[in-house]
Amino acid sequence: MNYRYCFIGTVLSLGVLACSEQNKAPVILETSAVRSVEVVNQHGEVEQPSPVIAMDIYKSPTCGCCSKWADHAEDRGFSLTTHHPADLSKLKSDWNIAPQYQSCHTVVSVDGYVFEGHIPARFIQQFLAAPPADALGLSVPAMPMGSPGMEMGDRFTPYQILLLKPDGSAEVYGQVSSPLEQY
Ligand code: CU
Ligand code: CU
Repeated sequence: MNYRYCFIGTVLSLGVLACSEQNKAPVILETSAVRSVEVVNQHGEVEQPSPVIAMDIYKSPTCGCCSKWADHAEDRGFSLTTHHPADLSKLKSDWNIAPQYQSCHTVVSVDGYVFEGHIPARFIQQFLAAPPADALGLSVPAMPMGSPGMEMGDRFTPYQILLLKPDGSAEVYGQVSSPLEQY
């Protein structure tokens, strides 16, 4: 009798395990720019491969906060190729980023989506995993204090992440109310 209950218990827990496996978020994003890197942790063990997402960043050569944002993104799985175009604002208007949605740097994915300004990397990953229909990309206009690359001690200004539309309009994609929500 006891043996039988144990057997049923094992089957049940296997069922639970199988379910929790299925509910896991996909580890590899399915975009054409993704390749895998092997990461060895501090114990010398090889960890699960993490996705690397290739993107281009367009910025001014003297922009310090842009470089700090690039470090933030590269620490979180992006591989950025840097460009210093002579006319950054022409490039932004060519990409249909209206002046009120512009910031310092512009990032472009291989699929042609644009990511303007100090957007936390996790929102870009979320966008690329499931790009909304009829979207140009994302923007954090201006440069909110305390956003990635704009760290100034404890100072933090809550901000919104906007979804840019090809017709020049925008809607709210995400809200960041505290520094921790950025990571
Ligand atoms: Cu900036
Ligand atoms: Cu920048």
